[in-house]
Amino acid sequence: MRTFYITTAIDYANGKPHLGHAYEKVLTDVIARHRRLLGDKVHFLTGLDEHGQKVEQTARAKGIEPAELTDGIAPLFIDLCKRLNISNDDFIRTTEKRHKDVVRKILQDLWAKGDIYRGEYKGYYSVRQEQFVLEKEKNEAGNWPEIYGEVTEISEVNYFFRLSKYQDWLIDYLNKNDFVVPLFRQKQVQEFLREPINDLCISRPKERLSWGIPLPFDEDYVTYVWFDALINYISAVGYGQEGFEDYWPAAFNVIGKDILVPSHSVYWPIMLHAMGIEPPKSLLVHGWWHLGGQKMSKTSGIQINPLDLIDQFGADSLRYFMIREMNVGQDSDFTMELFLGRYQADLGNNLGNLVNRLLNMANRHFPQGLPAPEVEEDPEITVHKQWEETRKAVLAGYDDFQFHSGLERTLLFVSVLNRYAEIRAPWKLAKSEDPKDREILRTSLATMAEGIRLATHFLQPVMPETAERIFGLLGQSNPELWEGQLDWSPRLTGTVLGEKTILFPRPEVQLQPE
Ligand code: ME8
Ligand code: MG
Repeated sequence: MRTFYITTAIDYANGKPHLGHAYEKVLTDVIARHRRLLGDKVHFLTGLDEHGQKVEQTARAKGIEPAELTDGIAPLFIDLCKRLNISNDDFIRTTEKRHKDVVRKILQDLWAKGDIYRGEYKGYYSVRQEQFVLEKEKNEAGNWPEIYGEVTEISEVNYFFRLSKYQDWLIDYLNKNDFVVPLFRQKQVQEFLREPINDLCISRPKERLSWGIPLPFDEDYVTYVWFDALINYISAVGYGQEGFEDYWPAAFNVIGKDILVPSHSVYWPIMLHAMGIEPPKSLLVHGWWHLGGQKMSKTSGIQINPLDLIDQFGADSLRYFMIREMNVGQDSDFTMELFLGRYQADLGNNLGNLVNRLLNMANRHFPQGLPAPEVEEDPEITVHKQWEETRKAVLAGYDDFQFHSGLERTLLFVSVLNRYAEIRAPWKLAKSEDPKDREILRTSLATMAEGIRLATHFLQPVMPETAERIFGLLGQSNPELWEGQLDWSPRLTGTVLGEKTILFPRPEVQLQPE
């Protein structure tokens, strides 16, 4: 079986992780877990981008060596993954030998092939975006777009990659393939390619930038950040070695919209094509998290430390919020009100309440084991029908990376179950001796239990710990595959349910943004 290979961007090692980093890892983790539940063999890579001017400047400002800086920052990102329950199989750092060796081999091959040449670079550079920028990108007032931060003029001898040589190939490739998800972003790439592109400057002289990978054919130069960073996606899975074909090109690169054009959508496929390998299957591009309307950034001082939210609400609550709130591809606003609103309404009052209603009644009236369903009347038929619709919609949504709508449908089904409980009102039936009432009482608990079991499967990729807990409360071990699990076929008869428990405790303190 071919591996489903998925990656996140690798984060710059120049500061602490923030909510945007946390989101990208969670989104990728949800996809990875979803594919595993479908039976795929998955390989999930994340990591850290350690070289470049941005990191070097940050280190110098602190009076330390870049290596010391990134060695201090790496554990923060690794810890974030652990705390968010990210199921990555590998974590790559671009300072590792396995990565540097591959970058140098590729540079050497492209040099030998004549796709890299030496020339004079005159132009502008944005350190914040680690990107060469063009005069024509200035706005009408003659200023650089704010996203570039400070832009410096440089004039130096450098090495160039023949990007322009492959422009027509890329245009053709994009005409024939759906490469970018969501597809409207592929249009942006095609728009960019309407004008002739320049060759890419891929080096910096060592005296300007020492913190990088030296060019194998000229050790006085290091390679420019993107040529180094992008290669992590293949260096980590053994490019140039046997077995690489298990991972490539069936790969998904998950990235934010700021690094689509030109790095991931132009440099990256062309680099791969020049090396004689195919582009990844897809780039999955997400939007930005804003905080109270502004993009989170270190300079504006508005940041949410994701770890604070995990401490207080648990990883699953944060994972749920981010995935439920953001329509992959669009931007979203983070506010504490929205977060607490979803936590209390969706998780506490809807899901948590339903589970407790069941546990409460089952423990009190059927401590020896859950009864079997006996009657099937309108209320039961409605629930069964709603499940069929939910199942179809969620499976299709998840397949299409529409996790927010998949979760919405899942929680809607949870409200259907709560409404069912109110219609059948087992707490009233339990007071009656009438045999028909007893039948419906037994049926209602069996129906609620089966509904919860089914809904919990769709929480698995997003809220893995909560799902495992709920399965445990239903007397089930955590199923690792969806196959054979998603049909309405009560199978919990006779199981002893767990004690009533509070899955989502009321928050004690209201968090303030940092
Ligand atoms: O760009 N909301 O690193 P990075 C959502 N090292 N996503 C956000 C975000 C926000 N507010 N801020 C950042 C780099 N991101 C390079 C990548 S890959 C070969 C090299 C996302 O630390 C951003 O879009 O600036 C990117 O995908 C990731 O976080 C790392 O950003
Ligand atoms: Mg960035």
